[in-house]
Amino acid sequence: MNTHFLEKIQHVIETEIISKQPNLLYDPIIYSLSQGGKRVRPLLTLMGCEMFGGDVEKALYPAVGVEVFHNFTLLHDDIMDRAPVRRGQPTVYKKWNETTAILSGDAMFALAYGFMIRTDAILVQRVIQTFNRMAIGVCEGQQYDINFETQDHVTIPEYIEMIRLKTSVLLGGALEIGGIIGGANDQDLKCLCTFGENIGLAFQLQDDWLDVYSDVNVFGKIHGGDIAVNKKTFLYLKALELANADQSKQLKHYFSSVDFDAKEKFDAVLSIYNELNIGEHTKSEMQKYQDIAMNALSQISVSEQAKQRLKQLAENLLIRQN
Ligand code: IPE
Ligand code: IPE
Ligand code: MG
Ligand code: MG
Ligand code: MG
Repeated sequence: MNTHFLEKIQHVIETEIISKQPNLLYDPIIYSLSQGGKRVRPLLTLMGCEMFGGDVEKALYPAVGVEVFHNFTLLHDDIMDRAPVRRGQPTVYKKWNETTAILSGDAMFALAYGFMIRTDAILVQRVIQTFNRMAIGVCEGQQYDINFETQDHVTIPEYIEMIRLKTSVLLGGALEIGGIIGGANDQDLKCLCTFGENIGLAFQLQDDWLDVYSDVNVFGKIHGGDIAVNKKTFLYLKALELANADQSKQLKHYFSSVDFDAKEKFDAVLSIYNELNIGEHTKSEMQKYQDIAMNALSQISVSEQAKQRLKQLAENLLIRQN
């Protein structure tokens, strides 16, 4: 259904991001952008524009900018999360080294700005403002995420705010940039953002769920990677909330160190999650945000038909396997 949009995004990536000297700077950029990510964010930008009757060609470079930015965050995120595998392949800092991942990431951030400004001159200021706000939000979220690994007590609302920052503002911002280029009015832009942010919350909850319950053959990341590094995900926090004294003691014990045998730790935590039905609790939390998102979408002043593509993407995202 989105083949046409995906081809456009792919074409820009292939023709605009080409290897130059020094190879060690550019090869990791090409590697990460050609690994077959889902391209969710640039699709959102194009759909946000199309929905308001805008010219998607004008949103194409900013859409690619959003994808380049996203991939930059992954280069740095994988260092921060000590994650060795992404999209079924070694992460950049593992394939090369940390220095390379840091520097190629920095270049990608600048490349992303280069794409952002390639739209109507009159729109550039608003596009950049949105992009900047989003980038700063992601940094704030990423710092909370890291803080929480070692912080004793984290509440579920604090966790939701953390994922809103690290993940949702990018999905919301991708849509907003599309909406701005598409000529949406302020009221509709607000609803579009609410839609994007709530889809983003559900998306990150799904990501946390996949860490534990995914089919390892399609996930493309290390199974249980969050548990191994003591991420305070929704699954963990909900489990603590529902746990009896013994389960609580065990969970806290396993989340107090990164030196346990990974398999022993994963199996022990998984069995507590299963006793407490945490998988289902996570799914119903996702549904809650998906409902808020769909309600916001219903308030946007364009036809049902114009919303169809976005609705479909949102539904597909929440049953994703990787
Ligand atoms: C991964 O995002 C980072 C999260 C916010 C969970 P995606 O799952 O969209 O990553 P790719 O680009 O499709 O691999
Ligand atoms: C995604 O968080 C947020 C960003 C990369 C900014 P995760 O750390 O959960 O993403 P994955 O699981 O590594 O893709
Ligand atoms: Mg992370
Ligand atoms: Mg990560
Ligand atoms: Mg994750």
